Amino acid sequence: MIASPNLSSVGAAAPLFEVERLSVAIKGLSAVEDVSFAINAGQTMALVGESGCGKSLTALAIVGLLPDVAERRHGTVRLMDHLLSELAPESLRAMRGTAVSMIFQEPAASLNPLMRVGEQVAETLVVHGRATRPEARATALGLLAAVGIPDPEIRARQYPFELSGGMCQRVMIAIALVAQPKLLIADEPTTALDVTIQAQILDLLRRLRAEHNTTLLLITHDMGVVSDIADKVCVMYAGRIVEEADVEALFERQYHPYTRLLLRTIPTLDGRRKTLLPTIRGNVPDLAGWPKGCRFAPRCPLADSRCALDAPPLVALDSDPQRKSACWHAEKVMERIR
Ligand SMILES: Nc1ncnc2c1ncn2[C@@H]1O[C@H](COP(=O)(O)OP(=O)(O)OP(=O)(O)O)[C@@H](O)[C@H]1O
Ligand code: SF4
Ligand SMILES: [Mg+2]
Repeated sequence: MIASPNLSSVGAAAPLFEVERLSVAIKGLSAVEDVSFAINAGQTMALVGESGCGKSLTALAIVGLLPDVAERRHGTVRLMDHLLSELAPESLRAMRGTAVSMIFQEPAASLNPLMRVGEQVAETLVVHGRATRPEARATALGLLAAVGIPDPEIRARQYPFELSGGMCQRVMIAIALVAQPKLLIADEPTTALDVTIQAQILDLLRRLRAEHNTTLLLITHDMGVVSDIADKVCVMYAGRIVEEADVEALFERQYHPYTRLLLRTIPTLDGRRKTLLPTIRGNVPDLAGWPKGCRFAPRCPLADSRCALDAPPLVALDSDPQRKSACWHAEKVMERIR
């Protein structure tokens, strides 16, 4: 039984998952700042941004698995009627195995190197009470087959180092699926995989959503993947969310220069061609060197003196209240950056 505060204010129409003002520091330096978003049941939200923007730290803070050097400064995380951010470690661990699962950025590193992959899936099934020990092996083989692993009998007997990155990723997904989680967090599940395997993993995630109404938080820096699978998008830059929108609206019109430049790196917007980011001049600044005002100012073609001094808040636009942007010149982005 998982002890969790009951949130009487959470009504039937509330999003299934909600993060509010989440902030994470690394060795005293702010790494994730006031990140807020909500995802409805069955929806897929993509969290996108260049390397070092704070995407993985956001995910790790959500599931309570931050590295020792990092700490959550403040913020709330709610999944259904559970305030994950207030749970004791053992209750959060129980939630991780049941209501929320995470596929990590480094699948090979997340699997136990000393255990055959079939045993790892079988063990998870037993721990979650999804199968008895005698049943577990056959059920594990079924799961491995379901995530598209060919010759599961043979693969199940192999160790992670004997499998390719794509195969390890599928094993991770199989393990994540054991609990039939309400929320699946997938951190770069297709990066470094070839295009065919990438498409298969995305198909698998789509199938999950269709069959189990799984809510998905997908972390990626690939806008092609975003256009393929996401319903909504939060664009992150230097620890903050800078733009938020439904996916179609975002691809049609951008209200933040960073998003505009990210999307310009894709030659076509039909999602057929997938290009790795970034091609924007300069790099994400180091944690210790974040600019005082808008953090994108040193790389932004629209920056002016106000941008260097004042950090723009993420707000709904007067002209388009469905859209949120953190830019002083949000309305000019499309006409000024061609
Ligand atoms: N264990 C750690 N020790 C020190 N710094 C860290 C650690 N983990 C993350 N950071 C720093 O925190 C910032 C955000 O890192 P994070 O891993 O969340 O980025 P990311 O957006 O997931 O990037 P990527 O796309 O490369 O995975 C980076 O500056 C990173 O160097
Ligand atoms: S606030 Fe200024 S620097 Fe920041 S993204 Fe907007 S125009 Fe560029
Ligand atoms: Mg990451």
